[in-house]
Amino acid sequence: MPSVLALETSCDESAVAIVQNRGGTLEVLASRIASQVEEHARWGGVVPEIASRRHVEALPSLIGCVLSEAECRVDQLDAVAATVAPGLAGALMVASVTGRTLAALHGRPFIGVHHLEGHLASVRLGNHAPDPPYLVLLVSGGHTELIRVGDHGSMQRLGRSHDDAAGEAFDKVARLLGLGYPGGPAIQQIAEGGDSTRFRLPKGRVSRPEGGFHPYDFSFSGLKTAMLRTVESLQEEMKDLPVQDLAASFEQVVADVLVERTMRCAMDHNLRNIVMVGGVAANQRLRHLMREEGIAQAVDVSIAPLAFCTDNAAMIGAAALGRLERQAIETSLKTGVSARWPLDQANALYGELPPF
Ligand code: KG4
Ligand code: ZN
Repeated sequence: MPSVLALETSCDESAVAIVQNRGGTLEVLASRIASQVEEHARWGGVVPEIASRRHVEALPSLIGCVLSEAECRVDQLDAVAATVAPGLAGALMVASVTGRTLAALHGRPFIGVHHLEGHLASVRLGNHAPDPPYLVLLVSGGHTELIRVGDHGSMQRLGRSHDDAAGEAFDKVARLLGLGYPGGPAIQQIAEGGDSTRFRLPKGRVSRPEGGFHPYDFSFSGLKTAMLRTVESLQEEMKDLPVQDLAASFEQVVADVLVERTMRCAMDHNLRNIVMVGGVAANQRLRHLMREEGIAQAVDVSIAPLAFCTDNAAMIGAAALGRLERQAIETSLKTGVSARWPLDQANALYGELPPF
């Protein structure tokens, strides 16, 4: 039963997990996350220098915790995995250097993982994931993409956001409404009980040079501006902003647009399975709407478990085990980190020469 130790420090969560493949079912033997959210909240966003320092402090004890919880030693595991791209370079380095050192010390292969491949693999944790081909809606703080996953893990991007990612829109609108960071959970909480039909907000379309619109692409900048205008004009009229209704209307339009375009893309490409992953996939309104539409359109919908939507190390372990399932691979110990690296070039992480 192959098992891996996985490390994740690409942004503001230090995370370590041990994941095991039991006959195709992935089991999380231990998973710990040390969140730095409170510290970054003071600044309204992630401060890279602080993030790196906190990862350095947190990682050793997290590793100790998961090893004792899973009752194993590193040399009993099949590999050590760490996120190596994309993310904040200084933050990525912490897991990368720790992972490579542990792998070298214990004579285990090192598996460098692409962070988005981790999000994609998160659906397999505790879920029965569909067999390819299927369509993935990846919605996080940095990405909003529709990806067709084909046989042997091939990936083709069919849609994307042309400006902000959905999570980024949640974070910016939360700031506008005077709510906390990260914005997604704050908006979700205050939107509960709000009137989601009170404000009419735009669904953001992206024009094509040859005319018409990209059917599967997204744009959230117009929505953000519409929220700003609405807030400004309300402030002229009343003392207290109707924050609940504003948050609910915003959350509803984002969920509507994500679900509509995902369904359309799946139908047009004859895909009967949809997978939803990433931090924004934790949103209850979105989860509910996607499932409801799936039933209406007779499309099978699989969503990452709530605990593994936002950044975690179990998903990095799941991606590493997926790679190990397909072939005996490893990443060069000379591989560094990359702040930007396209998902469709994730295979390069397993070549003989380090890709960066
Ligand atoms: O996947 P993730 O943890 O990090 C990235 O790889 O970007 O996603 C973080 C994003 C943040 O923008 C956060 O506001 C959003 O996911 N998020 C949510 C919810 N929980 C986290 N957005 C909407 N509703 C939520 N419940
Ligand atoms: Zn992420």
